[in-house]
Amino acid sequence: MAKYNIAWMPGDGIGNDVMEATRIVLDAMKLDAEYTHCDIGWEFWCKEGNALPDRSIKILENTTCGLFGAITSKPQDEAKEELAPELKDKKLVYFSPIVKLRQMFNLHTNMRPCKSYEGNPLNYRGSRLSNPEAKDLMIDQVIFRENTEGMYGGVEFFPLPEPVYAALCANPKMKPWKDKGLENVALSTRIVSVQGCTSICRQAFEFAKKTGRKRVTLVEKPNVLRETGGLMTRIFRKISEDYKSASAGGIWADEANIDAICMWMFKNPQDYSVLVAENMFGDIVSDLCAGLVGGLGFAPSANLGDKYAVFEPTHGSAPKYAGQYKVNPIAMLLTAKMMLDWLKESDKANRLESAIARVIKEGKVRTYDMGGKDSTTDVAREVARHTGL
Ligand code: NAI
Ligand code: MG
Repeated sequence: MAKYNIAWMPGDGIGNDVMEATRIVLDAMKLDAEYTHCDIGWEFWCKEGNALPDRSIKILENTTCGLFGAITSKPQDEAKEELAPELKDKKLVYFSPIVKLRQMFNLHTNMRPCKSYEGNPLNYRGSRLSNPEAKDLMIDQVIFRENTEGMYGGVEFFPLPEPVYAALCANPKMKPWKDKGLENVALSTRIVSVQGCTSICRQAFEFAKKTGRKRVTLVEKPNVLRETGGLMTRIFRKISEDYKSASAGGIWADEANIDAICMWMFKNPQDYSVLVAENMFGDIVSDLCAGLVGGLGFAPSANLGDKYAVFEPTHGSAPKYAGQYKVNPIAMLLTAKMMLDWLKESDKANRLESAIARVIKEGKVRTYDMGGKDSTTDVAREVARHTGL
């Protein structure tokens, strides 16, 4: 029996292309693992009315961790439209399988590193883009995004149940919507908890301390989102006290509003190190940071729980490139590197990252986004070759 059993979830679109590429590399590195295929994604919604069938959940429950490509998801009306005819009148509601998976397995922490590699033609050169002498800004950031609560907690209504509407209308601030009428109002909630905020802030600081990073920035908007943003900010400040002294890491804790950080990231991205945020703000800021290190082809992520973890690139299923083996597998390969770290296969994790860094630096094999013409699997084979050098 292999040491690890990994739930293998290619999902939809380019999820398949990049997972195939990753398998080339993991096999070349002789990871002692078996891979159990798991059905997940749009195809299963259309055919079975469930994008994460129960049989997949069973597999996940019996594996070491999961590796996931990407899924396609569409708005509710389109989702209903694409259901198999016999399922159309069953009042099924589409729910993103990856969001469900995060909640079901309590994968409370989404860790998203954004790092520049030397020689990447897509490296950011700051806001003075017209200056040809400008040097690459080398960015090395890690985002800690709360993964189960906040704006993506999934508590949403349209139409609103009468008691919910009535309870909200007791608040005078509801007047503008009360006047518009129940049938014209939709509601998405932002629910956070002391436990959720404490966990994500604590992990961000612990990571900074462990890796010798000196700055942790909270991304919020407490001046407007006074209750949820306020709670997160108070907890962040309290936890930061534990890491202030030199012996506890000497970590500088600072705060930025989500809108302001979009501007600061554009001007001074190299100044930031660890960022911590609620679910939606973490999602936004991580795509912003991904753009600064070369785009979605370079952004890996890990969904971490206490006992289980699912690793996935930040990008989606990019349907227009599906099955063309055109997209960059590096985000997915860096994701596999995070999985190796989590499995405590440090030597393999380091070898994989060095191989990726060397392939980027040499620049001989590149996908379209880096200005090349090579395929997804060409890049994987080149990385695999370098893992053995
Ligand atoms: P996307 O990330 O799939 O693609 C946007 C664009 O980014 C692509 O058209 C391509 O130009 C570029 N891109 C993405 N990955 C790349 C790679 N590995 N190499 C080079 N270029 C890459 O986002 P989009 O188009 O907004 O969404 C497509 C579908 O994916 C939607 O159904 C969406 O709901 C879903 N999605 C799924 C996610 C997930 O599985 N976790 C995350 C984001 C979107
Ligand atoms: Mg996103």
